[in-house]
Amino acid sequence: MKTAFFSSKSYDQQSFQIANQNHDHELTFFEVPLSANTVSLAEGYEAVCVFVNDQVDEAVLKQLYTGGTRLVVLRCAGFNNVDLAAAEALGITVARVPAYSPHAVAEHTLALILTLNRKTHRAYNRVREGNFALDGLLGFDLAGKTVGVVGAGKIGEIFAKIMQAIGCKVLIADPFASDEVQASYEVVNFDQLIRNSDIISLHCPLTPDTHHLINSEVLAQCKRGVMLINTSRGKMVDTKAAIQALKSGQLGALGLDVYEEEGDLFFSDLSSQVIQDDTFMRLLTFPNVLITGHQGFFTREALANIADTTLGNLSAFVSGEGELFKVTTQKLA
Ligand code: NAI
Repeated sequence: MKTAFFSSKSYDQQSFQIANQNHDHELTFFEVPLSANTVSLAEGYEAVCVFVNDQVDEAVLKQLYTGGTRLVVLRCAGFNNVDLAAAEALGITVARVPAYSPHAVAEHTLALILTLNRKTHRAYNRVREGNFALDGLLGFDLAGKTVGVVGAGKIGEIFAKIMQAIGCKVLIADPFASDEVQASYEVVNFDQLIRNSDIISLHCPLTPDTHHLINSEVLAQCKRGVMLINTSRGKMVDTKAAIQALKSGQLGALGLDVYEEEGDLFFSDLSSQVIQDDTFMRLLTFPNVLITGHQGFFTREALANIADTTLGNLSAFVSGEGELFKVTTQKLA
């Protein structure tokens, strides 16, 4: 199937070319993101393959349809950037990769917690400069602390298991928690979770309900000095409220793999440019804030699985055989 990739990087090309040896689709890789300005590149392609920050809104979908596109494949799990209702009205199928390596994101969440807590990033630099002083590196034992997991789906459940193995008490808030989760963990409501957790980690999808789930009112109800980790979607945290809470000490540490306005920043080398996002730059000034650029998914295993499932989606669409992981407004895959 003739497919145009947007926001593609060298590692995407590599993993997809390897996986395509089993499929033989016609793949064209564009580095630019998909938007109203770039959608004309997709003309004549039956499918487009997009990532987390590509804009697949109604206007873009209409232009895709006019250009002959009938399938949008997301090479990620989240689909908050696609106007599903508009796609359905046009008759464009949308498919995604429902799971590629929940371990990758859960393990990255742990990395953020350990780094923020034990300050290994600061210790690394100090030791290289011959500075062996420990002042400023004081952490706390994770064992015995309460970790609140918001959303115990594929990633949240693995993360909960990891934290339990470390000796933490795990609280889960998930209105749709599975029977297994309910049997293995203490499931509480969101208010109970935020009031009682030493560490809060977000693992639910971005929806209108979870937009700015963490805001100033919520932060005020948390334990003083709470650590907040977001590896889910940036818009779930009101960044300005988080900055105020960091300034007052109410928020003790913040680990982000995603950021509200990451679309203008992440996945590109901007090291020679003046970054215009003052809110983001303010975040970087805090010693107790750690930001990674949406790399939670970025493991060899995950890239191989993403390529395999995405090309499988293309093949299933063409042949009508095999599994097509459709996303619809009615029901998910
Ligand atoms: P999933 O669909 O398996 O689990 C999501 C869970 O959240 C479900 O159990 C659902 O019941 C729960 N949920 C829904 N609304 C909720 C609410 N209001 N409060 C609490 N829980 C709620 O999804 P999965 O695979 O575990 O991924 C979770 C999120 O992680 C994705 O939506 C995506 O945004 C993010 N993600 C981030 C990546 C990264 O590289 N940083 C990579 C992959 C996913």
